[in-house]
Amino acid sequence: TPQDEDYDLTTQINTNTGLRQGLTSYGDAHFSLFLRKVFIKALGYTDDALSRPLIGIINTYSSYNPCHANVPQLIEAAKRGVQLHGGLAVDFPTITLHESFAYPTSMFLRNLMSMDTEEMIRAQPMDGCIMIGGCDKTVPAQLMGGISANKPVLPLITGPMMPGNHRGERLGACTDCRNNWAAYRAGQIDVEEVSAINEELAPTSGTCGVMGTASTMACITAALGMMPLKGATAPAVSSTRLRIAEETGTNAVAVAKASRTPQEILSKESFFNAITVLQAIGGSTNAVVHLLAVANRHPKIQGRITLQTFDDIGRKTPLLVDLKPSGSNYMTDFHNAGGMLALMHTLRPLLYLNAMTISGKTLGQVLDDSPFRPFAYSREVIRSLDNPLYPCSSLVVLRGNIAPNGAVMKASASKDRALLKHSGLAVVFENTADMANRIDDPDLPVTKDSVLVLKSIGPVGNPGMPEAGLIPLPRKLASQGVTDMLRLSDGRMSGTAGGTIILHISPESALPESPFGIVRTGDVITCDVEQRRLHLEASDNEIRRRIAERRVEVAQSMGEKKSQRGYRGLYVKSVNQAEEGADFDFLTASGAGVSI
Ligand code: FES
Ligand code: MG
Repeated sequence: TPQDEDYDLTTQINTNTGLRQGLTSYGDAHFSLFLRKVFIKALGYTDDALSRPLIGIINTYSSYNPCHANVPQLIEAAKRGVQLHGGLAVDFPTITLHESFAYPTSMFLRNLMSMDTEEMIRAQPMDGCIMIGGCDKTVPAQLMGGISANKPVLPLITGPMMPGNHRGERLGACTDCRNNWAAYRAGQIDVEEVSAINEELAPTSGTCGVMGTASTMACITAALGMMPLKGATAPAVSSTRLRIAEETGTNAVAVAKASRTPQEILSKESFFNAITVLQAIGGSTNAVVHLLAVANRHPKIQGRITLQTFDDIGRKTPLLVDLKPSGSNYMTDFHNAGGMLALMHTLRPLLYLNAMTISGKTLGQVLDDSPFRPFAYSREVIRSLDNPLYPCSSLVVLRGNIAPNGAVMKASASKDRALLKHSGLAVVFENTADMANRIDDPDLPVTKDSVLVLKSIGPVGNPGMPEAGLIPLPRKLASQGVTDMLRLSDGRMSGTAGGTIILHISPESALPESPFGIVRTGDVITCDVEQRRLHLEASDNEIRRRIAERRVEVAQSMGEKKSQRGYRGLYVKSVNQAEEGADFDFLTASGAGVSI
């Protein structure tokens, strides 16, 4: 109507601005815009400000989250970038997750955070969105939500913490948390010393300083092409990190103007590049689950990146980055050695250079535009292709009669390589409580050759697939100097942990048809990494017989879990298995499981 047109003219809101998005709530779009302006004007914005591209900034600050302690400064810098380039920046909160303060496990809440992220990006008017995250589950949750919302999104990483120092030796969360705790358990250091170490393990804000899940996801986000390469490694407390934030604000205006969405940027090749980087950095096993969940949010990629993709790429990719837990350095060393730019130049022959990036350039163009000359120090931390830390297959995928849908192992973090081909008698713990009760029992029938098995820590089992897969060594063996054993579970482990540890066994033991669920103490289990094999010495008949024997009981306990109220019930009803990403089936691109 003529009056509506008049209103448009007098508002001076140009037709492309974010404030106009989704104006259907009241049936009358012009009235909705009028109302929106009533309320946003209460915040003091002028028509001029409101006529600019509107960039949302996700604020994941929380006093429970030291990994995100620098978020307020990052928001300020990102806003500066947006506003210097003609946009209007508006920050808003979503939930935030810290590894240590998320019961029963942060993974239980990752899908919730992805829903919060997706729906708030969708619900609120914005032309683009900067997603600030860092701690382990936040970056995958934001990628998942951002891809599903499919507005222009720009991840901004909080950055790693600096290393600490104890009596002249550098320390960093959380590989050294584990090493030192193990040393304390074995009686090698006393309570005073372990307390002094506790003060130094996380000496600044930022994410864990080794190649744990947070660092891995930061590198992978850059490798996917979703953020500039230098965005992965700059320390949380550095001025470089603030400049990256400002630049992300600048980029946001350009990406929003070009309406460059994550579904348009990401291709199968972007994921191949991300998996190549995952293998080359000796990245966290958790990233396998996260990347599968991220890929399965994309309508054109769902089901096309599988566990097999990770193993295939691993076979041709050497481990080049010498960081804990596979090597000996910290994220600051990787950054100082040239970080992701240096690594991508080194990996160039293995990468898909046509993959698109958020800049609008292909990866090949990005590398051509930013040459890197390796220097001696950089080659200690980022090895060359012909002098790797580990020849290939840092992460491997195993299969066998107790893991028909796969299992994952970080072979490069094994402390006793002899265990990579090993047969032993199983010592089985039915769940984490059973393990806690018996693991240090002096009468536990266990030797260094035993295979420790922990059940009921899969996506449904615990629920949320806790990081309990790093089964502690029985105290009596640890105090004899045993440092590694073959350990199996359907759960995860922290990316900062090491050992010969098989994880993510699928189908998980909490499911009625799970062959892993039938393993008993005294069974013989064989692992052969070279053959990618995980095998229980039992006939198919025997396995079927044992599955039938426990089916009713397991189905009943599944039923009880599913009938719980609230998020917990929703979680158990909807979560898919590790090889699909442990996402909710209704959140994947097709809104259903994929059969792999
Ligand atoms: Fe946040 Fe390790 S606890 S990254
Ligand atoms: Mg972690």
